[in-house]
Amino acid sequence: MNAPIDVSETVLRTERLILRPWKVSDLADFFEYASVDGVGQRAGWLPHKTIDESRKILDGFISEKKTFALEYRGKVIGSLGIECYDEESYPELSELGGRELGYVLSKDYWGRGLMPEAVTAVVRHLFEAYELDFILVGHFERNTQSARVIQKCGFEYIKTIPYKTQYGTVEICVESILYNPRKSGGRPSGSEF
Ligand SMILES: CC(C)(COP(=O)(O)OP(=O)(O)OC[C@H]1O[C@@H](n2cnc3c(N)ncnc32)[C@H](O)[C@@H]1OP(=O)(O)O)[C@@H](O)C(=O)NCCC(=O)NCCS
Repeated sequence: MNAPIDVSETVLRTERLILRPWKVSDLADFFEYASVDGVGQRAGWLPHKTIDESRKILDGFISEKKTFALEYRGKVIGSLGIECYDEESYPELSELGGRELGYVLSKDYWGRGLMPEAVTAVVRHLFEAYELDFILVGHFERNTQSARVIQKCGFEYIKTIPYKTQYGTVEICVESILYNPRKSGGRPSGSEF
C-alpha cells in the first residue's frame, strides 16, 4: 500500500546537492529546464510551453508535499517526487508500505551522476525516517539513461506494466524495486523476485 509521506519540512544534503521543498521563487528555474525539448517526454509529459503551465505544476509540488527540488550551486536543476504507485498492479505488496520515485534533471546537467546521488539520499531517508518496506521506480523501455540510474542505485527488476503518457501514447514501463534492508520480512514471502 502507499505510505503517507510529507517532505514539506525536509532538507537532505548530499555531496553536491541540496534536496529541499519547492518554493514559489523557484518558478524561473523550473520553467528553464521543464521547457526544454526531450526532457519531460522521457518521463511521460510534454515540455512546458508557458511559465503559467510551470506555475500550476509548481503549486501542485508545494501543496502535495511529496516532491523535492534539487538545488545545485544555488539553482534548481531538477525534481524528485515520491509518488503513489499503482496499487492495482501490485497485489503482492498490499501488506507492505511503499512509494514510487519519479525524477527529472535539467539536460544541462546530465551525465554527472547527480540523479543517482539524489536517489540514494532519498532512498536512505525513506527507509530510515519512514521505515518504508519498499520503493519502486519505473522507466520507459527505451530510456536507457534512467535505467542506468536505477541499476546504479541497486534496484532490481520486478515487472513490466503499460503507462499512459500525457501525449497520448502507451509506453512499456519497466518497474524495479528496492526492499528496505533494515526490515526483516520486507520482501513478500514466497515471492519469486
Ligand atoms: C534519467 C536522468 C535523471 C539521469 O540523470 P543523470 O544525473 O544524468 O544520471 P547519470 O549521470 O548517472 O547518467 C546515467 C546514464 O546516462 C548516460 N548519459 C549520461 N549523459 C548523457 C547525455 N548527455 N546524453 C545521453 N546519455 C547520457 C550514461 O550512459 C549514464 O550512464 P553511465 O553512468 O553508466 O555512463 C536524466 O537523464 C533525465 O532527467 N532524463 C529526462 C527525464 C527522465 O528520463 N526521467 C526519468 C523518468 S523514469
